[in-house]
Amino acid sequence: MDTLATSDRSPEDKLGRPLHDLRISVMDRCNFRCPYCMPREQFHENYRFLKPAERLSFEEILRLTRLFVPLGVRKLRITGGEPLLRVNLADLVADLNSIPGVEDIALTTNGVLLAKHASELKAAGLARVTVSLDSLDQDVFAKMNGGFGRVSEVLDGIDHALTAGLGPVKINAVIQRGVNEGSVLPLVERFRGTGITVRFIEYMDVGNRNDWREQLVVPSKDLQAMIHERWPIRPVKADYTGEVARRYAFEDGQGEVGFISSVTQPFCGACTRARLSSDGSFYTCLFAQSGTDLRGPLRAGVDDAELGRLIRGTWSNRTDRYSEQRMLLRAAAKGTPKVEMNYIGG
Ligand code: GTP
Ligand code: 5AD
Ligand code: SF4
Ligand code: SF4
Repeated sequence: MDTLATSDRSPEDKLGRPLHDLRISVMDRCNFRCPYCMPREQFHENYRFLKPAERLSFEEILRLTRLFVPLGVRKLRITGGEPLLRVNLADLVADLNSIPGVEDIALTTNGVLLAKHASELKAAGLARVTVSLDSLDQDVFAKMNGGFGRVSEVLDGIDHALTAGLGPVKINAVIQRGVNEGSVLPLVERFRGTGITVRFIEYMDVGNRNDWREQLVVPSKDLQAMIHERWPIRPVKADYTGEVARRYAFEDGQGEVGFISSVTQPFCGACTRARLSSDGSFYTCLFAQSGTDLRGPLRAGVDDAELGRLIRGTWSNRTDRYSEQRMLLRAAAKGTPKVEMNYIGG
């Protein structure tokens, strides 16, 4: 007989999806200005980023994470903006790692500061990193990130991550038509056989500032065909339910590539991801128009039981499946703003 009271069970949302992953943005700033995420003209010198006191403190992040875990969260991903801009990040990782029930802590970074921080992050308990790298060609790389940093720094960061034991390392490459399709095969060639998996991400309409148009999306099936022609690949089974990337193995045994196809093959049906923004809002979708403020109640002295109820209630009421309804929702929204990517980190 089921002896758990309803309030003790892990919640499911309105579409029957459990809560399993928490993506924590620790920093809304970034040292890049990728036009598809934080275009330079909009995120300029005078752009008003959060003030330090507006960001959740490490203590607040910890307290909230401790409340998410009993509701089902097992995987944590630290994101930004650029999370390595947050001072003493390894201290947060160490504390998150000590929460019973947390099974995996990963970090998404643009890699420029990784060489400096890889070993302390590993020592603090970080399991693995995913590094964004859209091209190996310095000029194309600069075009894709607004003109900051060097490919060599990112590659150095990846090397340090491997040496520190932050593997398996994954690489995320956003592909935009007319900009970096030519970077696909060189990326595959460079990382095949190294144990590093490159995942190609379809350009998405996150936030409100990147002037997304469907014509700029290169469907994953086109990239698969392009890669297959050079190095035959075959689909492999997902590692876990709800895996974002569709994985393909090279027929010659030289590892895998992945495709994240939010536009052409949405994966909302198995989406178990919650997002905590740097200013303490809880979002139930990457494309959400609003979130549940947790910082306000937290700072007003609300106790854990009530905060837990707020989180549970928000998840239980969740109906998001933006990618499956993209065109419909874009037409219906008529300019209602979505949360910006630098607050919730992809
Ligand atoms: P692991 O499989 O655990 O390594 O992580 P992951 O693939 O879930 O995480 P990662 O942050 O590397 O995700 C890769 C990219 O996929 C993100 O940066 C986003 O661009 C995209 N993505 C991740 N989650 C979602 C999601 O829920 N919805 C959509 N539309 N895109 C997502
Ligand atoms: N479309 C697809 N992926 C994006 N990312 C950021 N903005 C977009 C977008 N508009 C990816 C980055 C990084 C991760 C945090 O999200 O490349 O890998
Ligand atoms: Fe920064 Fe990543 Fe956004 Fe690029 S995609 S601007 S590296 S947060
Ligand atoms: Fe999840 Fe929203 Fe992405 Fe769909 S669009 S997979 S609901 S985050």
